[in-house]
Order: sequence, then C-alpha cells, then structure tokens
Amino acid sequence: MLNLETSQLTSVQDLRARARQNVDQGAVTEGYNADREEIIKLLNGSLATELVCVLRYKRHYFMASGLKASIAADEFLEHAEQEAEHADKLAERIVQLGGEPEFNPDLLSKNSHAQYVAGNTLKEMVYEDLVAERIAIDSYREIIQYIGDKDPTTRRIFEDILAQEEEHADDMADIYNAL
Ligand SMILES: [Fe+2]
Ligand SMILES: [Fe+2]
Repeated sequence: MLNLETSQLTSVQDLRARARQNVDQGAVTEGYNADREEIIKLLNGSLATELVCVLRYKRHYFMASGLKASIAADEFLEHAEQEAEHADKLAERIVQLGGEPEFNPDLLSKNSHAQYVAGNTLKEMVYEDLVAERIAIDSYREIIQYIGDKDPTTRRIFEDILAQEEEHADDMADIYNAL
C-alpha cells in the first residue's frame, strides 16, 4: 500500500487546503503546471482549425457529384460532423481553463493551422481534405509533445482528436487512390 506520508504525493491536508484557494478559478487548481495562456492559445488555434475543417467538408459534401461521388460524400459528411465534435471538446476545455473560445468568423481562417481550399473536382476536394488532415495531424502531435505531463486532461483531448484525424487521413487517402 502506498504510504502517503513518505511518498512524493501531496498530502491530503495540502490538497484540501489548496483546493480552497482560488475557488473562482474552477477546474484550474494550484497544481496546474502548464502555462495556461499558452495552452488556451493552442486550443483556440485548434478550434479554428476544426471549424474551418467543418466548413470545408460541408462544402465538399454538398458539391460532391458524379458517379463515384456518393462514397466520398458520405465520408465528407461524417468527417464534418466529427470535426464539429472536436471543436466542441476544444471550446469546452478552453472555458474550463478560464479562457474564451474564439468563434469570430473573421479570425478563423487566420488562426487555423489548415487552410480552406474549396476545390473544384471531386479529386481536388479529396486532395485538399487529405492535406488539411495531414496538417492537423502534425500540429496536434507537436502540441501533445509540448504539453507533455503539464496538463494531462488537455493532452488526452488532443490525443483522442489526433487518433481520429489519422483515421480521416486514411479515409481520404483510400478515396483519393480509388479516383
Ligand atoms: Fe478534427
Ligand atoms: Fe479530421
């Protein structure tokens, strides 16, 4: 059994006392090790990325036409919905950390890691989606490395999203190669 008196863990008394300090900061406690402003900035950049991805996939869903388009269209719609879920998770975490999620449309494409490229043909659309997914994968991986052990909750959110972006990239690569 773990001996709390001799371990490196903070004693129960200290944990209780610390939790009572700065209660107005909600989920952000004294033990929060990360640079909160920096984490919120990274979360907002990622939120912009997800929102831009929702818009791009929505356009592609509605624009997909032609004989081979129906499988792609189904994937575009599913991805649009999943990117919207990612955006919600990021926005929720920003608020938990005491920040404000940025939804100003004028700032979205500027803050987004991935670009909004409309694409004309089905092949161009799938290509642009694949590129955007690959950008998201690289930036989320870097963010996860930056966070390290400093903020496990935010890190886990990014890890879950990253896993799904990798599936998205895989889906787009399969469709691209079949076109
Ligand atoms: Fe996403
Ligand atoms: Fe994605």
